[in-house]
Amino acid sequence: MEKQKKGNGFVGGIGFILAAAGSAVGLGNLWSFPYKTSQNGGAAFVFVYIFSVIVLGSIVMIAEIYLGKRAQANPVTAYKKAEKNLGWLGLFSIIIPFLIICYYAVLGGYTVKFTMNSFSDNSKVLQTFSGNIGEVILYTGIFLILAVIVVTAGVQNGIEKASKILMPVLFLILVAIVIYCLCLGNGVKEGLDYYLNPDFKALGFKGVLAAMGQAFYSLSLGMGIMVSYGSYTGKNVNVGKSAVWIAFFDTLVALLAGLAIFPAIYHYQAETGIALQNNGIVLMFSSLPIVFKTLGVAGNVVSFFFFGMVTIAALTSVISLLEVVTQFLIQKYSLNRKRAIAIVGAVTFLISVPIGISLGFALTGKEGMTIAGKNWLDFFDLVSNTVLMPVCAFGSCVAIGWFAFKGKNAKEALSSNYLCSRLDEEGLKLGKFGKVFSFMVKYVTPLLIAVIEVFGVIDVVFPSEGENRVFSASGLAIVLTAYAILVASIAVYFLFLKNKETGLNEDELKKTMQIEEE
Ligand code: PHE
Repeated sequence: MEKQKKGNGFVGGIGFILAAAGSAVGLGNLWSFPYKTSQNGGAAFVFVYIFSVIVLGSIVMIAEIYLGKRAQANPVTAYKKAEKNLGWLGLFSIIIPFLIICYYAVLGGYTVKFTMNSFSDNSKVLQTFSGNIGEVILYTGIFLILAVIVVTAGVQNGIEKASKILMPVLFLILVAIVIYCLCLGNGVKEGLDYYLNPDFKALGFKGVLAAMGQAFYSLSLGMGIMVSYGSYTGKNVNVGKSAVWIAFFDTLVALLAGLAIFPAIYHYQAETGIALQNNGIVLMFSSLPIVFKTLGVAGNVVSFFFFGMVTIAALTSVISLLEVVTQFLIQKYSLNRKRAIAIVGAVTFLISVPIGISLGFALTGKEGMTIAGKNWLDFFDLVSNTVLMPVCAFGSCVAIGWFAFKGKNAKEALSSNYLCSRLDEEGLKLGKFGKVFSFMVKYVTPLLIAVIEVFGVIDVVFPSEGENRVFSASGLAIVLTAYAILVASIAVYFLFLKNKETGLNEDELKKTMQIEEE
């Protein structure tokens, strides 16, 4: 029990890597990655994606983990420690996960349903299930409760332990499914051809942006998660190496998912002559079940493991989202963990109800339940991921690149070599890579993120219709909502948080020790 007394963070470096990878590996890898690849020129998209993971993702990942690690505290305190006037970024980066939980839990509920229903016919379930409000709410609740249980047990005894079991299980299932799919015979070659041959025309500028955005989302960046998880690391964790492992593992899972899904889809096409729709929710919850059905009993088993794997991936992601919000409540409002997670779980569950209903409307073709012309899920997704997330990732780079270690004069302030030596002194030891990191985090990465933000916003406000772009009032409403959230977090921060204590990891530890002593 020695170790537990010493801290409330991750016991080991591997535990941290697996937990962070657990957050990163999610629906984004197993589902958005393959369908975005299919829409944007196959391997061309994959190239840009990998490039973005290396050039943008790993840099922001290091910045965020380090922000947390040096502060040993929730994101508000962590950004504050880098620069007092930037503490609002922390608040902001807690609001984003909060929004994401609300819709992610609904999708998580779908994955639980499809896992449990694998031995009956899943191929038509999407229609009936999504429209059955009571059932959707039930499964969303089940999924959230599973995640809440893990977070309640704490970082060491809950998140770290669960990740150490769940992530290897996920990986083994995935590898087995890939092997199975590659052995399907008919269509496998066509599927692989499609996946592995780059079509740069189909990629275009839009595809490049999509790949960059996908890299951020998939690595769970720009939403406080890596800051929060990073805060639970100590001397036992090397930030640079861990970031590389997390990014590697996340990308590997995405690539493997493609290796399973494309052959499966093309196999079906070869057998039946019918092409399946390759978009979004339909791909995962309708097309794949149809493929599984054609495989007979083996298909049921594959379906069970496949959706079980997706459930695990979604679960470890929601766990990380919950932890960010919970950590802040514990530290800022001196709540105990149980109470904090109960509040977060209950509120997000309530918000997930209308999202679940709205998604059901959209999937069953019913009118109504939209905000700004979108179903609630798309609305939440666009607000949080397209508009807000890049702002936060940008902020992480700027906080480390420009504010945490201000130089004494203009020359030092502008010099990335100066930043590099300061980081090194302060314990972010990146070796040969230090100079590159410093230059990237200061100049290149924030610039590219700004491009992603600007074009992301343009795309929402002026979506393309055929060749042309048309103004969309609902798109504008979405963007304005997002920026209103941004402005509100800035206001709340300066009014209520800037000059107040916002808590440290230690606070939770002290409190639990007090309780144990009593
Ligand atoms: N990175 C996760 C995925 O790939 C998604 C996620 C986003 C998880 C944000 C947590 C926070 O699906």
